[in-house]
Amino acid sequence: MDPRRILLAISGGIAAYKAPELVRTLRRADHVVRCALTPEAERFVSPLSLQAVSGETVRRDLFDAGEEGEIDHIGLADWADLVLVAPATANLLAKMAAGLADDLVSTVLLATRAPILVAPAMNVNMWSHPATQANLAVLRDRGVAVVGPDSGELACGWEGIGRMSDPSVIAVAAAAHGVPPTLIGTRVLVTAGGTAEPIDAVRSVTNRSSGKMGFAIANEAARRGAEVVLVAGVTSLPTPFGVRRVDVRSALEMRAAVLAEFDEASIVIKAAAVADFRPIEVSGRKIKKEELAGGASLTLELVQNPDILQEISARKGDRTIVGFAAESHDVLAAAKRKLSRKGCDLIVANDISRSDAGFDVDENAVLFVWPSGEVEELPLLPKPGVAAQLFDRIEKLREGR
Ligand code: C5P
Repeated sequence: MDPRRILLAISGGIAAYKAPELVRTLRRADHVVRCALTPEAERFVSPLSLQAVSGETVRRDLFDAGEEGEIDHIGLADWADLVLVAPATANLLAKMAAGLADDLVSTVLLATRAPILVAPAMNVNMWSHPATQANLAVLRDRGVAVVGPDSGELACGWEGIGRMSDPSVIAVAAAAHGVPPTLIGTRVLVTAGGTAEPIDAVRSVTNRSSGKMGFAIANEAARRGAEVVLVAGVTSLPTPFGVRRVDVRSALEMRAAVLAEFDEASIVIKAAAVADFRPIEVSGRKIKKEELAGGASLTLELVQNPDILQEISARKGDRTIVGFAAESHDVLAAAKRKLSRKGCDLIVANDISRSDAGFDVDENAVLFVWPSGEVEELPLLPKPGVAAQLFDRIEKLREGR
């Protein structure tokens, strides 16, 4: 479902001037946004601005043959994963409640089967009028979600409730509304970030990893209603909403945390960059260079860390286990070898030699490598988009059992 396709329906209130900002906020959160305007909305916001910020054709007129030729109104209603009405005027709410379809926006709202979120904006007296409140009650009963309105100074000069919610608040509500909670009752264990293997009291050998991919995966699982445990190595990222986080540093600590959570988990995704080696001896104090006579070099002896993924895959049961493979060359061949050696259900491979994907950046270009030999190459996507694609595949795999 990600990136989600959001149809922004704009009706004719002064708050429509915030629509371009709302489009930009939604696009920053990786949604694809198309706009549809009522004739009255056009008096407040220009279709050209909306086209520029959305990068998509704007629809205005139900009976315009050119517009209909590009995407017809039923096609538009079907296209949307979510219809967001912002601002929603008292008039449009009344039309929705009555089931009227006398222009493009009201027709699409009647035709769509996508979830609908409305962000009302109007004068305080119009808002509190029993007619408006009764219409809202009807819409809520039908599953329409409502965000706002806020209180404050209104464009009409009155003070009170009626301001459209801030675009950032609407965007959060849009992200949460209508995501099917497909993973309710499922425990998902995710590892993320690099591990740090201590050399002495202050130094360590680490693996490079921002943790962004694993955190996006944990976030997506939580969005789908899963109970999520995130075993996080070295990263400065904030904990995603609704996720239980266990912080670790070394590979051995990560192994212990994973094994402690493994029995309860149905899906395990190992996105962490685990250091393959650790210093065999760890000095409890800081090693001082003066202790090394005559500028002598320091030799660190490293031992192999246990391979957590291989270990858990060996006692997989009916869990779904996904590994990652960050490779600098021969990505596919290395991923296939890793899949058979580790014995997991899927390897997500990425080419770390690309500068636009992988480490530190917000996007990733990955291959899904399956035990059947099938390989899926995904386009360059924001990491949350990759996470959503991953869960779509995992859910299908588990359904097919
Ligand atoms: O062998 P390599 O480190 O390239 O494998 C990557 C995958 O294996 C990742 O999913 C990583 O989390 C996991 N792994 C592990 N334990 C290790 C090394 C890697 O679980 N010691």
